[in-house]
Amino acid sequence: MSHPNSFYITTPIYYVNDVPHIGHAYTTVAADVLARYWRLRGRDVFFLTGLDEHGQKVQQAAAKAGIDPQVHCDKLAPQFQDLWKRLNISNNAFIRTTDISHKSVVQQYLEDLFSKELIYKDNYTGWYCTFDERFWTEKDIEAGLCPDCKRPVERISEHNYFFKMGQYQNRLIEHIAQHPNFIRPESRRNEILGFLTTQKLGDLSISRPKSRLSWGIELPFDKDYVTYVWFDALVNYVSALEYLRATPSREQYWPASVHLVGKDILTTHAVYWSTMLMALNLPLPETIFAHGWWTVNGEKMSKSRGNVVDPNKMVDQFGADAFRYFLFREVPFGQDGDFSQSAMVTNINSDLANGIGNLLSRTLTMIERFANGTIPALGTPALPELEALIAATATTLPERIDQGFTALAFRENLQAIWELIGLCDEYIDKAAPWQLAKNPDNHPRLNTVLNTASKALRLLSVLMYPYMPQTAVQLAQQLGLSFDFSKPMPQTVYEWETPLAEVKICKGAGLFPRISIGSETISVGLKESAEVKEIDKEDKPGKPQGAKTVNDATTPPQPTTVTLAPTTATPKTSAPAAAAAPAQITIDEFMKIQLKTAKVLTAERVPKSEKLLKLQVSLGEGTEQRQIVAGIGKKYEPEVLIGKTIVIVANLKPAKLMGIESQGMVLAAGDSEVRGLITLLEDVEPGTKVK
Ligand code: MSP
Repeated sequence: MSHPNSFYITTPIYYVNDVPHIGHAYTTVAADVLARYWRLRGRDVFFLTGLDEHGQKVQQAAAKAGIDPQVHCDKLAPQFQDLWKRLNISNNAFIRTTDISHKSVVQQYLEDLFSKELIYKDNYTGWYCTFDERFWTEKDIEAGLCPDCKRPVERISEHNYFFKMGQYQNRLIEHIAQHPNFIRPESRRNEILGFLTTQKLGDLSISRPKSRLSWGIELPFDKDYVTYVWFDALVNYVSALEYLRATPSREQYWPASVHLVGKDILTTHAVYWSTMLMALNLPLPETIFAHGWWTVNGEKMSKSRGNVVDPNKMVDQFGADAFRYFLFREVPFGQDGDFSQSAMVTNINSDLANGIGNLLSRTLTMIERFANGTIPALGTPALPELEALIAATATTLPERIDQGFTALAFRENLQAIWELIGLCDEYIDKAAPWQLAKNPDNHPRLNTVLNTASKALRLLSVLMYPYMPQTAVQLAQQLGLSFDFSKPMPQTVYEWETPLAEVKICKGAGLFPRISIGSETISVGLKESAEVKEIDKEDKPGKPQGAKTVNDATTPPQPTTVTLAPTTATPKTSAPAAAAAPAQITIDEFMKIQLKTAKVLTAERVPKSEKLLKLQVSLGEGTEQRQIVAGIGKKYEPEVLIGKTIVIVANLKPAKLMGIESQGMVLAAGDSEVRGLITLLEDVEPGTKVK
């Protein structure tokens, strides 16, 4: 039995047949949220993730790339590891099934089961698709064709080794029946039980002849075979404990607390793995939780559709914390969800920029203005009813969150946290501290408002930490609190009654930029503090109670218009109409425009034109060169442009200007007259994406 205070959490180990996508990030961030929460609450956490490097998919991917499978795995592994760093994943170990120690554990287990006669050799006959290199059962095939690639299948027979999985059927049914938390959510548990109680569980082929597949762990008792990839992969959850810690720690952590998996790989975990563990005389994991799948803008995500969501891009565009937040705010864990950029932008603006970001910024601004930058001690009640409600909510919140994490209710937890944020906003709006500040008699009440909001923020920072670790750290720092999130958090921090006063705050940058989509630009500007506006408006009657005045009404300072120069094919319509109310575009529309840095190699005047220059630009070493005709000749002599790094629209349809082809546009500021070329402060390589 594992130690009662330990918490062992795993993700599936991902196939290295391609780069990571949102599905991989989803499970890994979920595991990270749980790992961070339980560590903060003082549990001894072991968080494992890694890579599944054997089997057909990986062998095929390597063959396609024309490289050795191991070289292929070594090349792709850092893509996963780097992404986990960028997403602040706090895994304690990273397993690769090509690790020598893992292979030897798999071989030991095979040897053990073989010697107990739980593995036997038999003949297998089935429908084989040579193209897909896999067997299908009678009911899978469609009119003699492979259901996958639609090519004819052949009836072939081969010898293989089988694990006596079928004999564990009743024991498994009983285990599931007696352990309601073993397979979750409930609907998935019922699916597995339904299948186990209505169909006969067969034995499992755990080998593949090397003549068909060579990339795998050799069977210790027959060198002509390799181990079936799932047998090899599932063992990772135990083998990691043998060699990825300084001292082997199976007793400490096994059985695992939670195996997180996607719904498609529940059977392999709930049935194959469970029966393997029974045969190996090892206890079964406490919980196997199957989450749902992400679609993208309502469609299945696939390479052929070209809609695979790259988590790296999400981090680039929105930051790790906002992406992490979105994954769990959008859909209940266990159900399918749909991903879209617009949903993400809406979420960030409403919950992060307007929600927590605004609450922190308005509270700190008021402490700076009305309390000399130091959190004041509690004074006299300002709005007793709301204060009591906040106190009651905050007092019960840690327990609710604890139960939520036990139940893996990620979304419900976020909703509970945001209830407190909403209450605080309402409280500040109604208490109107900027009014209280005017009259010294009201200062004790003002102090209560500032103190209450600060205490709520203190609690919010620790509750938010598992989801958004960077934000939580910043929030605590700005509040002037020296929390050490790398250690268990003292219980007093979670207790509402713990006093907070005489702490010097340290207001910094806003937590989340509000993403606003304007006409010519997407401005990602920091939000204005609420109170700056509210204080300005304080005497104006008619402000709706509790309304969030700031963001919805805020227009960012008007930037100098960014013009696309020259005005090629349709000069009249593409000239920005600064005064007219411009149509808004969605972020998806904006994302269609590919902006890149380019280095000017040559520049010369277009004969008979005052305005046009012909540029040859490079989009990176060894890559393409482009010719661009730009209407910047009145402003610049060609010589000064050579060697400069500029920004171009790289995916513009080529157009002819005075008979010369222009393969893109140069970005410049100005309206009818060019006033400046967009260049870069840093020496950025040509061909770099600009967003
Ligand atoms: N290698 C096996 C797992 C072995 S675990 C002992 C495997 N790897 S995988 O890379 O193909 O998939 C890993 C995980 O990604 C699975 O949990 C799967 O459910 C998940 N997802 C793949 N596409 C997904 C979505 N579109 N949405 C959410 N998760 C998705 O299977």
